[in-house]
Amino acid sequence: SLKGLDLRVEIERLRKERNAVILAHYYQRPELQDIADFVGDSLDLARKAQATDADVIAFCGVRFMAETAKILSPEKIVVLPDMDAGCSLEDSCPPEAFAKFRAEHPDHIALTYINCSAEVKGLSDIIVTSSSAEKILSQIPLSQKIIFGPDKHLGGYLKRKTGRDMLLWPGVCIVHEAFSETELIKLKAQHPGAPVAAHPECPAHILDHADYVGSTSGILEYAKALPGDTLIVATEAHIIHQMTKALPLKNFIGAPGADGNCNCNICPYMALNTMEKLYVALRDLEPRIEMDEGLRVRAKKSLDRMLEMAG
Ligand code: 13P
Ligand code: SF4
Repeated sequence: SLKGLDLRVEIERLRKERNAVILAHYYQRPELQDIADFVGDSLDLARKAQATDADVIAFCGVRFMAETAKILSPEKIVVLPDMDAGCSLEDSCPPEAFAKFRAEHPDHIALTYINCSAEVKGLSDIIVTSSSAEKILSQIPLSQKIIFGPDKHLGGYLKRKTGRDMLLWPGVCIVHEAFSETELIKLKAQHPGAPVAAHPECPAHILDHADYVGSTSGILEYAKALPGDTLIVATEAHIIHQMTKALPLKNFIGAPGADGNCNCNICPYMALNTMEKLYVALRDLEPRIEMDEGLRVRAKKSLDRMLEMAG
């Protein structure tokens, strides 16, 4: 039993014993963000995983992120506190169906959001994150036809923003999909002048109300430079932890779902990771990401292109 253990102390001890680095995404529980060596967006976390000289990467995030760490740092042991931490975008894009879609459009390259399986990365030409997508897209010749998957909202946002035509895979993030436009308009009316910062995984009817659209790290930078005292945050609510830490006197409000409150904006996959499970993962070095070497090398090609093009 873990009863009676001071998990913070135990995790600190194991981090040293294992020569481990703890990486956490902004959507993780506050206590996991606080104990991490580094908190970041998907691109930052991939870069940290690639650069670390630790022997063990304890990844507090979802499986595709931990897989990305393993693809980029194959000699490291990568543990994920809960192997069931998936992603609705990954689920929306089975590799066989994606391969068929590609085969139907042989003159298109596949520009693919990092929120997908290693198999789908292996079937893609270039991976993007929300923080790097526009920069990477701008480097692809205008004559080049593009398939974009699996997030149709990020894809739609990029199409509107850049004027590029892309064929979109119909995947969505269940967290960002759940925000209600009606309730957002009500909330804005209650806080006149408060800006809205939104993640591009939100549907267009939410992004239409946004003063700023960007990745989690972009939204955090925007919050830190906030001129007023209130910000409405249309992304997963755990990021508000970092905002409150940086600016404790300001008012950060999560965008509401259809019921008018913010229960919709917690990612159920991210929430599977806990301090208890992180402790067990560092103690047992399980659950561990394992990957077939052929698959890893295929997936690494499109990730390497991202890292080169993101600069
Ligand atoms: P970023 O942190 O790269 O903006 O990604 C958000 C997300 O949905 C991760 O699952
Ligand atoms: Fe996937 Fe959405 Fe959860 Fe991110 S917030 S891991 S995109 S389901």
